[in-house]
Amino acid sequence: MSRAVVTGAAGFIGARLAHRLLDEGWDVVGIDAFLDTYDPAEKMARAAGLGRRKGFALVTGHLSELDLPAALEGPEVVFHLAGRAGVRASFELEAHYRRDNVDSTARLVEAARTARSVRRLVYASSSSVYGDAPLPFSEDAGTSPVSPYGMSKLEAERLCLSGSGEDLETVALRYFTVYGPGQRPDMGLRIFAEAAWTGRPITVFGDGTQSRDFTYVDDIVDATYRAASAPASGVAINVGGGSRVSLVEVLQLLTQITGRELDIRLAEFARGDVLHTAADLSRARQLLGFEASTPFAEGYAEEVAWVASTLQDARRSA
Ligand SMILES: NC(=O)c1ccc[n+]([C@@H]2O[C@H](COP(=O)([O-])OP(=O)(O)OC[C@H]3O[C@@H](n4cnc5c(N)ncnc54)[C@H](O)[C@@H]3O)[C@@H](O)[C@H]2O)c1
Repeated sequence: MSRAVVTGAAGFIGARLAHRLLDEGWDVVGIDAFLDTYDPAEKMARAAGLGRRKGFALVTGHLSELDLPAALEGPEVVFHLAGRAGVRASFELEAHYRRDNVDSTARLVEAARTARSVRRLVYASSSSVYGDAPLPFSEDAGTSPVSPYGMSKLEAERLCLSGSGEDLETVALRYFTVYGPGQRPDMGLRIFAEAAWTGRPITVFGDGTQSRDFTYVDDIVDATYRAASAPASGVAINVGGGSRVSLVEVLQLLTQITGRELDIRLAEFARGDVLHTAADLSRARQLLGFEASTPFAEGYAEEVAWVASTLQDARRSA
């Protein structure tokens, strides 16, 4: 029986990872502070779903305050997904990003290094560490984050990677825009789908030619799971969906999926947003044996259907 700690287990990706680990027969301790970065009810519902499963235990608290040596007694792997996500909010809330991403990670790495059972720490880093680097983003090229969020992820990533040594193996995965059912409410793809179903206007920041390497959540989870046993330590690895989709293409697809006409309004390009992202996946293939398996059109149709059902549920209970 393998045991893992998943930090950020009540979050969008952390909860999905915890379910996968339970499916594979692991025991999982989930840690989450239920931050009010978005409606904590969404996080509570995810935690409740996990709580109904055998092999899951929840520790509620912040990584900067919890008794981490006690929480890390027993597990072999720590999947560190807790973090304050989102680029735009980071300009106003730098101190929060520091506490939740950098200081929390420093404490967790130190605890993982001294915990007897822990052999590996897998960190959820971000493509935001690259800023507007040349495409495709390669791990060997430089990093130049353009937001406090990106800077905090890079600093936390460095803390994890420099913590690798005889007692601890560490891997940092640079996730590229993650989407799918359950996506965070502050993320574009979900906001667009909600607007399409409710008839609200959609604000496009910039001219719509910006593009993202969108990655389906189960592909991200698969890469993260593989990282627990990858023949690598002290390295950063990109995890992307393998294709680049522009905002204009996203909105065309959304029109097709919903059959609704969209009310699109243009606004100034947002601070901290980069123009394009694309992952060089050579290292992920080589070290994780990873290949994304969900095409964007398929994955987004699933998310759009999930958004429709959550809106219906909300109407019923109103
Ligand atoms: N979603 C993406 O597109 C994306 C892309 C790149 C990287 N990431 C990273 O992946 C991770 C998960 O992202 P998500 O989209 O699931 O976000 P999320 O906000 O849904 O989940 C993060 C969870 O961590 C918890 N948390 C945050 N800081 C904490 C702390 N210091 N101590 C305890 N709990 C804490 C929050 O309450 C939340 O439930 C984050 O670290 C994020 O930076 C996400």
